[in-house]
Amino acid sequence: MDFELKPLSLARICSEKCDVLVVLVAQETKFLATSDDAVSRMAALAIKSGDFDGKAGKLLASYRPLGIAATRLVLVGAGDGSPKSVRTAVAAAMNGMKSGNAKRVVLSLGAMANVSGDAVRAAVVACADSSYAYTATKSKVTPVALERVLVAVTQVAAVQAGFDKGVGLAKGISLAKEWGNRPSNHATPTLLANAAKELGRLPKIKVDVLGPREVAKLGMGSFMSVAQGSAQPLRFIVLRYDGAAKTAAPIVLVGKGITFDTGGISIKPAGEMDEMKFDMCGAASVLGTFRVLAELKPAINVVGLIPACENMPDGLAIKPGDVVTSMSGQTIEILNTDAEGRLVLCDALTYAERFKPRAVVDIATLTGACVVALGSIRSGMFSADETLAKALYDAGESSLDPCWRMPLDDEYADGLKTNFADVANVAGRAGGAITAAKFLQRFTAKFPWAHLDIAGIAWKGGSAKGSTGRPVPLLVDYLLAQVQAKPAVSKTKTGKGKAASKAATRSRAA
Ligand code: BES
Ligand code: MN
Ligand code: ZN
Repeated sequence: MDFELKPLSLARICSEKCDVLVVLVAQETKFLATSDDAVSRMAALAIKSGDFDGKAGKLLASYRPLGIAATRLVLVGAGDGSPKSVRTAVAAAMNGMKSGNAKRVVLSLGAMANVSGDAVRAAVVACADSSYAYTATKSKVTPVALERVLVAVTQVAAVQAGFDKGVGLAKGISLAKEWGNRPSNHATPTLLANAAKELGRLPKIKVDVLGPREVAKLGMGSFMSVAQGSAQPLRFIVLRYDGAAKTAAPIVLVGKGITFDTGGISIKPAGEMDEMKFDMCGAASVLGTFRVLAELKPAINVVGLIPACENMPDGLAIKPGDVVTSMSGQTIEILNTDAEGRLVLCDALTYAERFKPRAVVDIATLTGACVVALGSIRSGMFSADETLAKALYDAGESSLDPCWRMPLDDEYADGLKTNFADVANVAGRAGGAITAAKFLQRFTAKFPWAHLDIAGIAWKGGSAKGSTGRPVPLLVDYLLAQVQAKPAVSKTKTGKGKAASKAATRSRAA
């Protein structure tokens, strides 16, 4: 689907030929009364008669209305005109036309007072979101009718950046959804690695994939212990996006890539176990974020790490009580083989040290406890670093992909003590999302670190079952804000020198 941004007044919109003209009408509509075009007149009349108001998501549709070139006109309430209301509005309008066969849609934000770049971004993302269709494993595929969406605003310059961000984001979100949705036999560790390699063809992205032999050589005993019950060989995927000088320390994203989580010997109950194909949504969000980076090309360096494998019960599988040695040297008693996410992540976190990162953020469908705590609205965010925690919180708010900070008091780690290893992989039931984070924290001494538990937000269950593509929007806003916070070092000799000395300071500190 193609998006286009154009300056078109409401009057001009009336003569724009298309299948559906969607006009966002904010609650603040004083100026509708003073504009003399068919759309404004109709909207003003509908509001006056009480048949329509600007409440976000309210719809009023008409067919071949007089004085309008579009086949269908949909007025949709855009509330206060905030990005969130615009998202609600566009989602409602797009869902309303799902049954139709509209190819060409014009989305007008011209009937709103101040349109922000973020509102335009929200419109584009919401539009792409509702037109995503999963087809990979269906025998009969009806292609999505929608081909072109023209976003019409009164002033382009102020919102162009927001529009571009939206178009870039849409590509990454749909990639994340696609890999999240694919069943585990169509998204094995090897296939996931191939998807990453595909990204390596995009500008500024390089991808390396390690197999069982290389991973063994690195000493990733914890990661390997999860994979050992599966017939599918593990993959350790390393992505690099080089948007800034080589000397600029990267931000590392680590995505949990369990392509199916049966629980292992500590096997899960059968009900809804199919949803454990989504246990690689952290990995998918890293892939999606790299897709967006290739599109927006920000001046920043980013590394993506994905430990990918299945968690299966088997004659060779790891058993409760077994002790393994992680890459960090710490020994781990695996009391519950279903707490496998932290076992693959801890070795990836140790591997991250070699990049001397500015920050490391791991993204994982880690605990059912996080779903209980925060439901499906906000990700759980854990960090002992105030700056990083604030940056992630802010990114969640600005991207409409919110998170909520959770505690990391040391006392929460008490339950991880064991007589048989340096640490156990589970504590009691209480505070399960936090004790999981405390386990991970033991492997992050060398860099500022944050953990996003996305178990509640990465996919929807029930009749709307499917991946959400979250938290790609949060991650992208976080990374973009880091560019502004620390502008890319210029390519002059002095600039390079500065960057090099900065990097040296950092590595000494580490
Ligand atoms: N992938 C699951 C977490 C999960 C469960 C996400 C349900 C979404 C819905 C994870 O590997 C897991 O099984 N965690 C266990 C940890 C427990 C054994 C300490 C859990 O949450 O039950
Ligand atoms: Mn599990
Ligand atoms: Zn899992």
